[in-house]
Formats: sequence, C-alpha cells, structure tokens
Amino acid sequence: MATDHPVVEIDGISKFYGKVAALKDVSFTIHPGEVVALVGDNGAGKSTLVDCLSGVTKPDGGSIRLDGVHATTLETTTALDWGVETVYQGLALANDLEPALNVYLGRELRMPGLLGRVGMLDRRLMRQRTGDALNKFGVGLSNAQRPVAYMSGGQRQAVAIARATMWAKRLVLLDEPTAALGVKQSAIVLNIIRQLKGRGIAVMVISHNLQEVFSIADRIVVLRLGRVANVFTTNETTTEQVVSAITGADLVERAE
Ligand SMILES: Nc1ncnc2c1ncn2[C@@H]1O[C@H](COP(=O)(O)OP(=O)(O)OP(=O)(O)O)[C@@H](O)[C@H]1O
Ligand SMILES: [Mg+2]
Repeated sequence: MATDHPVVEIDGISKFYGKVAALKDVSFTIHPGEVVALVGDNGAGKSTLVDCLSGVTKPDGGSIRLDGVHATTLETTTALDWGVETVYQGLALANDLEPALNVYLGRELRMPGLLGRVGMLDRRLMRQRTGDALNKFGVGLSNAQRPVAYMSGGQRQAVAIARATMWAKRLVLLDEPTAALGVKQSAIVLNIIRQLKGRGIAVMVISHNLQEVFSIADRIVVLRLGRVANVFTTNETTTEQVVSAITGADLVERAE
C-alpha cells in the first residue's frame, strides 16, 4: 500500500526546553499506508516529536511538510483539518465528559434544527456509534453515560484510540497506545493499526514493546538523546540491532 510520495517529511526538526535539546536535527519520512515505529529510551524525544507533528508544540528549527506542503508553523487545527489524529501519551481526554462526547468533541452530531437554528446534540447517535467502536475493542461499558474519569486506564485508552481511528484521514500518531492494555486488547490495537494501513493511512506508533514493534512496523526509527540513531527496515533487522541503537551500544561496537 506504501507509495513513493511521502505523506509526511520531517526535515531537521529541533526542539529545546531551556538547555535540554529534546530533539536535534531529526529527519525522516512516512509514506501513505506505512507503519513507522518510533522507539527509544525514556526521554529520547518521542512524545516531543508527536507534539510537533500534531501542532501542540512548535519546533525551534527545521520543517514539517504534509503532502509536500510546507508547514513550519503547524497549528493543531491545521493538523486536524489535514487529517492528523493523535492518541497522546497522556490521552488528552476531557475527564468530566462521557465517552461519546469525548469521541465527538468539537465535531458533535446535531439533530436538524427548526427554522435554520442549530439543532440539539444528537446524543443517541453519538452514543450508538461510540458504543459500536468500543465494542470492537471488546470494551463494553455498563454505564456509557458516565464521564471517562470513572473508567479504567484501558477503557480510557480505548476511547482515545476509537476517537483517532474514527476521524483519521491521512496520519495517525499513537504514543504508547498499548501501555495500559492487556494482551487481548493490545492485539486488537495492533489489528486496528493494520486496518488503518489497509485504508492507506500512515501510522507512527511509539512503543517500548519491541515484540509488538516487530509485528506491526514496516520501518523502525530509533531516537537516542533527541537524535535519530538509526532507521531500520523491519524485515531486514534483528531485535539486537534495534536494542543496540536504543542504548548506544552500536557506537561502542563501531568504535571497536
Ligand atoms: N514540557 C516540557 N518542559 C521541559 N522539558 C520537557 C518538556 N517535555 C519534554 N521535556 C524534556 O524533553 C526530553 C524528551 O522528552 P519526551 O517526553 O519527548 O521523551 P519520550 O521519548 O517521549 O520519553 P518516554 O518514553 O518516557 O515517554 C526529556 O529530557 C524531557 O525531560
Ligand atoms: Mg513519551
């Protein structure tokens, strides 16, 4: 499904927090229908890169091109309009709202209004569609109208992923989407990633679980201390090579 024309070109992105360089001269591309895993130790800069691509954070240098269009100052609304959906590491759900209103936040469905007025929220339809999406995860909610604050970590993760996959058009960014999930639900998330790929949507997924990464990714980008340590093609790579790039052992090997 991957084509030659990249959907995202990340070109020399840098981001500083005070003196800390969270990202240094990071460049790589993602193609339509391609799954790129972003791996690296804690603090390597993975979430910072997600934030740059979703428009939450402004890079201090470099540029991001979406479908060939320059977007150095990417705003969150631009990213959403263009078709980037994000599952943030902190999930970014509105905890006092029920699942359906989280899934449809800012895109609420309304009933037809009288005399050209804005109609009432169509809660029934939003709940039904959200319920269907959550059922795919095997997540059944005893009370679908309760705010997500009362849900388990895994259930909240399912709401965030359901929202992203429902609206995704071009690129989905998943920051540790299986971190709070058990074996069965993790497998479902991996299947959802495969479905996105099948729809020609590009996926960048962050995970510390290399078994998962090898089962899902076409390529693996390793970040170390804010820099791209290596980019691997999954089926030409061993776990040991990826681990060496994550830890920096590859530098030692090269020096010897
Ligand atoms: N808002 C912020 N203010 C200051 N420093 C930050 C901020 N966000 C990230 N950093 C720093 O930038 C670096 C990269 O952090 P980031 O969250 O991108 O790492 P990560 O690879 O996602 O790590 P993890 O695997 O733990 O989620 C770290 O040194 C972190 O302390
Ligand atoms: Mg992170």
